[in-house]
Amino acid sequence: NLLDEGPKPLAGRRAIVTSGPTHEPIDPVRYIANRSSGRQGHAIAAALARLGADVTLVSGPVEIADPAGVRTIHVERAEEMLDGVLAALPADIAVMVAAVADWRVATAGGQKIKKKPGEAPPPLQLAENPDILKTIGHHAQRPKLVVGFAAETQEVEANAREKLKRKGADLIVANDVSPKTGIMGGSRNSVSIVSKDGVDAWPDLDKNEVAARLAALIAERLGP
Ligand code: CTP
Ligand code: CA
Repeated sequence: NLLDEGPKPLAGRRAIVTSGPTHEPIDPVRYIANRSSGRQGHAIAAALARLGADVTLVSGPVEIADPAGVRTIHVERAEEMLDGVLAALPADIAVMVAAVADWRVATAGGQKIKKKPGEAPPPLQLAENPDILKTIGHHAQRPKLVVGFAAETQEVEANAREKLKRKGADLIVANDVSPKTGIMGGSRNSVSIVSKDGVDAWPDLDKNEVAARLAALIAERLGP
């Protein structure tokens, strides 16, 4: 069993990881989504488990398999993802990797929206979703180490620093998700680790390698 190999610096630690996109229903047959594959989040959940952590992965709809050695909870909507995360508390580590939809359709109905001849397209009224990372970062049962991602297409570091503060995170993994980078849905990632101590730019790596390094950094930060 591969999971039994290597040092276990996170033995006895509980971790919560979110991964994938969320799907926000418009009606029973349509939804709003984004391009997240879940690869990076799932790899992080597996990497934490490999270091001995007891991991709960709360995953949006993805096409990849549940990672080995991890408790995986499947959800669709942001509100369900928040419920799954809160139910997994208390924890020592939270790594919020999911590309949570910022908005849901406020008016999502129980019936399929029909075309009406001669009428304008239906307006979609949006409502803001709960911010899961921010909720965890300011929670009474806040995990000792709270890690977020910052998916940006411009001013990556400045935006990451702002998210670090606003969301109450210890680390923000910042990446440029512009289409030209191929990161969204791809197998590689190019990230910078932003903390109150500064910025550490990592080289372009396979997402599994980013996950292994991040898990090692988390173990180092938590200490024995
Ligand atoms: N996040 C979250 N819940 C949300 C939105 C974001 O938990 N409703 C988390 C993401 O999982 C990520 C971090 O917050 O760890 C940053 O997500 P991002 O989309 O970059 O930030 P937002 O605050 O949504 O800001 P914006 O999309 O406007 O840049
Ligand atoms: Ca967002």
